[in-house]
Amino acid sequence: MSIKTLEELLAEGVSGRGVLVRCDLNVPIDDGTITDPGRIAASVPTLKALANAGAKVVVAAHLGRPKGGPDPKLSLAPVAAALSEQLGQDVPLATDVVGLDARASAEGLTAGEVLLLENVRFDPRETSKDDGERLALARELAELVGDDGAFVSDGFGVVHRKQASVYDVATLLPHYAGKLIAGEVKILEHLTSSTERPYAVVLGGAKVSDKLGVIEKLATKADSIVIGGGMCFTFLAAQGHSVGTSLVQPEMIDTCRRLCETYADVLRLPVDIVAAEKFAADSPSEVVAVDAIPDDKMGLDIGPESVTRFAALLSNAKTIFWNGPMGVFEFPAFAAGTKGVAEAIVAATAKGAFSVVGGGDSAAAVRGLNLPEGAVSHISTGGGASLEYLEGKELPGLAVLNT
Ligand code: 3PG
Repeated sequence: MSIKTLEELLAEGVSGRGVLVRCDLNVPIDDGTITDPGRIAASVPTLKALANAGAKVVVAAHLGRPKGGPDPKLSLAPVAAALSEQLGQDVPLATDVVGLDARASAEGLTAGEVLLLENVRFDPRETSKDDGERLALARELAELVGDDGAFVSDGFGVVHRKQASVYDVATLLPHYAGKLIAGEVKILEHLTSSTERPYAVVLGGAKVSDKLGVIEKLATKADSIVIGGGMCFTFLAAQGHSVGTSLVQPEMIDTCRRLCETYADVLRLPVDIVAAEKFAADSPSEVVAVDAIPDDKMGLDIGPESVTRFAALLSNAKTIFWNGPMGVFEFPAFAAGTKGVAEAIVAATAKGAFSVVGGGDSAAAVRGLNLPEGAVSHISTGGGASLEYLEGKELPGLAVLNT
């Protein structure tokens, strides 16, 4: 069985029908202000198509990782306001997930209206490991759209999670892939099937443990894997360098050593580092070679020589996948590595490379450059999801759409 699409649902007719849509609206929010609304914008086409076709749209989404119950700091209120603006129609926020307010608001919807449920993770059953608990929440979510309701899965960033509003609800309602999911899967399929060489992969971010699977998988497919960000220090330690007070995952050192030996031709590590006294935006810093990191300093970015080398490598690439920043780019003093890599990818794309950027931080870094549309081939809304897809893992939220 193949995955049914939104177009098929629209062809069946949705006017006056309840449609539950799972979106990934997990956007970075700083002091009440959304700093990168990319995921909201990416969710609009599916929601607009459904509203225009007269569906009564109920949107489920999460924000952050609330612990065990409602947390006002993780309310979707700022998201509801931004979504209203982007959709060009009022999107009220229910004050609960499947409680009295959600039920009354869903019941009161008229054709073409859109309702956002409060952070679905405020209900601990959403992320429960107990199948029965998740299914119970899924039933209550399904009830919100009535007997002839349908489910549209469009939260690509969360399809790697086996959660009630992502997975279980699709076992209860007729289910369809939204435009965002369909588009993302097409791009990732392209990356796994017809990659033009040279294929360069750029990986960064804090934890090496998050990226080991994808390194193992892509090391035999890509021509080079460039490694930066906090995770590079575990690799540098594995190569015998002293890394001062930099972030290291000691339990991963042996694995990194094995990877360095097995894939010496593919893995590319920085040659210099911006080392700082402490993890702070205003910490004094210096550029040092990777074999000269002072004992009392921590690496917070890759150095300029590394950027030059990585950029040269990327300029020849015909296919590029990037996930994870090269340094602590939220501090301007340690953003040059991430910015340099982003610019190199943009330049390669202008020369004809096919480039995909995934992961909230790398996507935000690219958007932060205020580049025109098309400066990179695709900015994925999924970080972990795109990595797991490329690792070849089964993504529960996609697999269930195939049933
Ligand atoms: C993400 O930000 O990667 C997705 O929204 C999934 O969030 P999670 O990692 O908390 O499940």
